[in-house]
Amino acid sequence: MDVLTLLKNDHKTVSGLLGQIKKCEPGDGRLAGLAEEIESALTVHAAIEEKYFYPRLHDRSNEPDDLVDVFEAYTEHELIKKLISLLKSGRQPDEQFKAELQVLAENVQHHVKEEESTIFALARETLDAEELKELGAEMEAAKNRLMSRSSRAPKRKTAAKKPSKKQASSRARGRFKR
Ligand SMILES: [Fe+2]
Repeated sequence: MDVLTLLKNDHKTVSGLLGQIKKCEPGDGRLAGLAEEIESALTVHAAIEEKYFYPRLHDRSNEPDDLVDVFEAYTEHELIKKLISLLKSGRQPDEQFKAELQVLAENVQHHVKEEESTIFALARETLDAEELKELGAEMEAAKNRLMSRSSRAPKRKTAAKKPSKKQASSRARGRFKR
């Protein structure tokens, strides 16, 4: 698969997940699961782009404007990662959580739009068909490695920690204090 098709497919997957957020009311239990799926899809996607795709485009860009476009893509990734980090704390899927997911969705939509126009055009201009294919294969293999690694990683706990015996007994004492 050539790199542009690979990335376009990833964009479709993430857009589908982001679209589902809009249908959830704050407090909907599905929001936490969606956030987790979006987080892992975007993290892997950004990692392979930054390791293989952007550096190649950076090296091939001769025009200052093209370099600006590549740096813009990196910068948008940094913003997206910051927004993802807000969702990582296993919080309640309340109004604020949904708002942060929506801002993430808006940023991703903007990034995807620019990437599929400006960045893909730069790739078509600076890489030949063979290179686009080779890069795609390399990135697909890296993606599969990262995804199998993240699926093996232990899931974070979202349930509230059980109080220790000491905490529970001091809470009970407080309840009866006059
Ligand atoms: Fe990207």
